Amino acid sequence: MKTQNQILRKQFLAHVGQTSPAPQLITVERAEGVYFYTPEGKRYYDLISGVSVSNVGHANPAVVEAVCRQARDYMHIMVYGEMVERPQVEYATLIASLLPEPLSSIYFLNSGAEAVEGALKLAKRYTGRTEMISMRRAYHGSTHGAMSMMGFPEGEEWKNAFRPLLPDCKAIEYNNFEDLLQITERTACVLCEPVQGEAGVRVPAEGYLQVLRARCTEVGALLIFDEIQVGMGRSGEMFAMQKYGVTPDIVTLAKAFGGGMPLGAFVSSNEIMSTLQHNPVLGHITTFGGHPVCCAAGLAATRYLLDNKVVEQVEAKGALYEKLLKDHPQVVEIRRSGLLLAVELGSSEKLYKIMDMFIERGILSDWFLYCDTAFRISPPLTISEEEICGSVELIVECLNAL
Ligand SMILES: Cc1ncc(COP(=O)(O)O)c(C=O)c1O
Repeated sequence: MKTQNQILRKQFLAHVGQTSPAPQLITVERAEGVYFYTPEGKRYYDLISGVSVSNVGHANPAVVEAVCRQARDYMHIMVYGEMVERPQVEYATLIASLLPEPLSSIYFLNSGAEAVEGALKLAKRYTGRTEMISMRRAYHGSTHGAMSMMGFPEGEEWKNAFRPLLPDCKAIEYNNFEDLLQITERTACVLCEPVQGEAGVRVPAEGYLQVLRARCTEVGALLIFDEIQVGMGRSGEMFAMQKYGVTPDIVTLAKAFGGGMPLGAFVSSNEIMSTLQHNPVLGHITTFGGHPVCCAAGLAATRYLLDNKVVEQVEAKGALYEKLLKDHPQVVEIRRSGLLLAVELGSSEKLYKIMDMFIERGILSDWFLYCDTAFRISPPLTISEEEICGSVELIVECLNAL
């Protein structure tokens, strides 16, 4: 007789759309803090956090309570910016207070890719230009526009099958100062992750973001920072832009921004954002963007980060992981921004092997879209020192067995 779990897996394979030929097939029963559990009670350290989503930990009581309360009050009334809905207004006000001036107008959406789409449209509309520049090895989402901004040539593997994509897009090399001269008076915007995530955690070279900012200002191109993966505390500051002292014209947020619920946003000045009000009116619209329950969750999560000084502890926690792992003979290097780490093994063969061992031992990690020689450590930011050491113990067992 098949168990409930076996039936569930079979139905999953038959009816849930698949994009990988070999899904891991781990059934999730419940999750709490840095752990999730299977129906058999096996415990996993979640070192992915849903790709940097669960910054305040799974089933955080403050978030769960906010979601339940808001669901009882009201879930969905039209959201096109016509109605005054408390969770949206309070969350927008809080985010505006945390971002540097003049980033004070928040347009809510449902996801990261949507936030990027909105930001690109806003830049074209505000500048009246069409050229859009991104960085090589960038990932900004899977919709046509966001995908068009995956850099050349590395992004071709994903883009090729889906052409035609957006015209007038090109990519420059992240951290290459000379390439910045390709940003000209033709350029509507430059889209850049201040710390590149899916490239395998690449941090900006000294002064790079400052020179990028200056070049955009010089030629009148808008600078868009994609903080979807590194924002909301993961870099060790609430926003990575604060770590480097560079303010973009637009910033995109998602993932942890929703506190575990689907929520994205692009944020700009009132002056730039207001161009979406005319020629045409309703320059960007959404049925669900800024859903009250999602905003209530994001608001509760952000307040939790602030009230518990979670972000202030991120750098030390990331440094502890680095210290405990960097001298292992299998580790070639560790690239890190706060609690986002790429542990480089220098070989994809070793990487695939260790992934299987991780699953066996109770660790959920993965590699990066453009880098399958390093594994990811991006746990909930609430992880304790004891939990860091506990997860490192298992990781080291696997490294030893390589
Ligand atoms: C930097 C960055 N931008 C955008 C996205 C896309 O976000 P979403 O999957 O919510 O569309 C991702 C997702 O991994 C990301 O890492």
